[in-house]
Amino acid sequence: MTREEAKKKIDRLIDQIDYYNTRYYQDSVSEISDYEFDRMLKSLESLEEQFPEFKYVYSPTQRVGGTVTKSFETVVHKNAMLSLSNTYSEQELFDFDKRVAKGLPDQQYEYFCELKFDGVAISLWYEQGILQRAVTRGDGTQGDDITPNAKTIRSIPLKLKPGNSLPDEFEVRGEVFMPRKVFEAINAQKEADGETLLANPRNTASGTLKMQDSSVVAGRKLDCFLYYFQSEVPVVATHEEAIHLIEKGGFNVSGTYKKCRNMQEAIAYIKYWEQKRFELPLDTDGIVIKVNRLEQQSQLGFTAKSPRWAIAYKYKTEGATTRLNDITYQVGRTGAITPVAELEPVLLAGTTVKRASLHNANEIERLGLRIGDFVHVEKGGEIIPKVTGVDMDKRAPNLEGFKYTEQCPECGTGLIRREGEAVHYCPNEEACPPQVLGRIEHFIQRKAMDIESLGPETIRGLLDHGRIKDPADLYGLQFEDLNGLEFKVYSEKKADFSVRSLREKSAQNIINSIRNSKEQPFERVLFGLGIRYVGATVSEKLAGYFKDIHALQNSTYEELVEAPEIGERIAESLRMYFDNPKNRRLIDRLMRYGLKFNVEGEKENAGNNVLEGKTFVISGVFENMSRDEMESSIKAHGGKVVSSISSKLDYLVAGDKMGPAKLEKAQKLNITTISEADFLDMIGEND
Ligand code: IVH
Repeated sequence: MTREEAKKKIDRLIDQIDYYNTRYYQDSVSEISDYEFDRMLKSLESLEEQFPEFKYVYSPTQRVGGTVTKSFETVVHKNAMLSLSNTYSEQELFDFDKRVAKGLPDQQYEYFCELKFDGVAISLWYEQGILQRAVTRGDGTQGDDITPNAKTIRSIPLKLKPGNSLPDEFEVRGEVFMPRKVFEAINAQKEADGETLLANPRNTASGTLKMQDSSVVAGRKLDCFLYYFQSEVPVVATHEEAIHLIEKGGFNVSGTYKKCRNMQEAIAYIKYWEQKRFELPLDTDGIVIKVNRLEQQSQLGFTAKSPRWAIAYKYKTEGATTRLNDITYQVGRTGAITPVAELEPVLLAGTTVKRASLHNANEIERLGLRIGDFVHVEKGGEIIPKVTGVDMDKRAPNLEGFKYTEQCPECGTGLIRREGEAVHYCPNEEACPPQVLGRIEHFIQRKAMDIESLGPETIRGLLDHGRIKDPADLYGLQFEDLNGLEFKVYSEKKADFSVRSLREKSAQNIINSIRNSKEQPFERVLFGLGIRYVGATVSEKLAGYFKDIHALQNSTYEELVEAPEIGERIAESLRMYFDNPKNRRLIDRLMRYGLKFNVEGEKENAGNNVLEGKTFVISGVFENMSRDEMESSIKAHGGKVVSSISSKLDYLVAGDKMGPAKLEKAQKLNITTISEADFLDMIGEND
C-alpha cells in the first residue's frame, strides 16, 4: 500500500468509526455488530502502526488510553469558569426574575431551562474541528489539563462531524458524570471484594478524571453532557441556538432542556422534573434557569462569582423520619467494625429503607444517637441511605445514652482503634470467624485464584473441622480431607441449618481447581492476599511495575509512592502488610506451594535496568519504532514515561514533526534533548 492509499484508508476509517461511535453512544443505535466495529478499529490500529505519521491525535484508537501522567499541567482558563447562585425557594426565583426585568428595561426576554447535572465541570477547547484540550474547573481561574483522560469518554468528539457549522475555534463546557448503573456495578464488585465502597457517582467521576493512567479511566465508562458554548466570533444569538449548534456538531446534549416564556413556566418545568429526574441515568440536583438571549446576558453581566443572567434552583434531598430500633455491628474481612442502624422500615425516594450505615463510633457520637430515637434519614447522591440527625422533640425521656461496643460481636476479643483512625478493629485476625472466612473467600474468588467450586459453606466446613486456617492450607488439602466432609447449609425457609456431606465428584473438582489455581498470574495472587486498598486494578499496577514479590515487599514507602497510581494510603497499607512477619510467612508458604510471585518472562530482563530512575517525554514521530514501542522499551529498561515537560525531566526524545513549543520549553529548562538514535545507543540497540 502506498502512503497516499494508507492515508485515504485511515481517514475513511476514522470517519466511519466516529459515525458508528456517535450513533451508539449518543443515539443508542447499533448499526453494525460489535464484531464489525472491532474489526474496523483493529484495521485502523494496524494501519497506524505501519504508518505512524498518520496516527492522529483525534484517532478513535486514542480512546483506549495508555498515557500515564504523574502530575497534570495547570492551565489558566481562557474564560473563567464561574459558578451559579443557588436557591431552594420559589420566592427567590421570582426575586431573581425581578432583577432580570430591572436589568433589561422595556425588553421581552425568555428563559432556557436545563437540569443541573451532578458531575464534574469540564471545559473543552477545539481548533479546526479537533479537540485540543480538556481542562477541569479547578478553582474557576485555572484547572488541570486532563486531555488524555477526557479522550477516553466516547461521547466527547475528538474530531467534529464533517459538515458541521461550528467556528474554527471555540470552547464547550459540560459535566462529566458516571452513569448510576456503572457506579452501582463498581460498588457491587467492591462489596464482593470486601473493599471500601465508593461514596457517590460524582466523587467517583471526579476521582476517575484525575487518575494518572488513562487506560484505567477508559474502563470506567464515564459520560458527558455539554451545556455551554462560547466563541470569539459571534455565531449565535441565543443560548438555545448555541445548544442546537453543538448538538448538530456531534456533542452530547441532554434532551431534557426547555425554553420557557416566563418564570411561571420555569417553575412548572421544575415541578415536572422533581420526581421524573430519578428516571434519568445520572444524578441531578436541580434546575438551571438561563436568560436565553446572549445580548441580554451581556447586558446583565456578572458579579464576582456568578452570572446575573442565570440561577440554579436546587431540589431538597429526599428525607424521612423513622425509629432507630437498634445498632448492630458488622465485621469485615480486614477486621473493621461497621455499625449499622436498624430502622423501622420507611419509604424513601421510591425504595423501602431498613438499614443505614453509621460509619464509625465518632459518627454515632456526633449524631448523639440513642436506641429508640426518631432519626432523619436521607438519600441524596449517595446510594446507601444516611442518618443525618435526631428528632429531639420526639425523644422519649427514659432513653439511655448509647455505648459503643468494646468487644468484637463475633469473637468477643477487645476492639482496638489505630492512631488517627475512626474505625474500630478486631485484632483477632487469626481466629475471628468472619475475618478468617472473609480472607479465604477473597482469596478464592474469580478475580483472584478462581477456586469458586469451593463454596462458602464448604470453607466453613473445612474451618469447623480444623482442616484449614488460612489460604495456604488449601494447597495442602488431600482428596480425603474433602470427600465426605460434613458442612452446614442454612435454609431461609426453615430458618435453620441442615448438615450435608461433600460428594466424591465435588471433592475431586475442588482438588483439581485448587491445583489449577497455581497457574494464576502474579497480579491475581497479589490481589488474593487481600491487602487493604489493594484491589484488582492496583494489583495489576503493582505487578506490572515491581515485577516480583521481592522487589515489592522490599520497597520503602518512598519507593512505593513513586509507582504509577500508588498513593500514600496504599503505600502505607502495603508497608504495614509486609512488615507483619505473619504475612511474610504466609507468602513464603504460598511460594513453596508453587504459586506465581513474579511476572512471567520478566526475569530475563532483570539486570538491564540501564534507564533506572530516568524520566522521558516522547514527542514527534520516529523512523524505527512507534511511540508506543518506544514507551514499552523505556519501561522495559527501568525508565519512566511522563507526558509533560518539567524541570525534573531527564530526557526529551525528539522525533520528526515535534511541536516547536515543546522544544522551546525543553531548551528553556535545560532538558537534555536526544534523538531516536541516541535513545537506541542508550539501551545498547543501535547497530
Ligand atoms: S451553566 C456561567 N448549566 O453547576 C454558568 N451549569 O454551580 C455556567 N452545572 O460549575 C454553568 N448542570 O458544573 C450550567 N445545565 C447546566 C449545569 C451546570 C450542572 C454545574 C456546573 C457549574 C455548576 C454551577
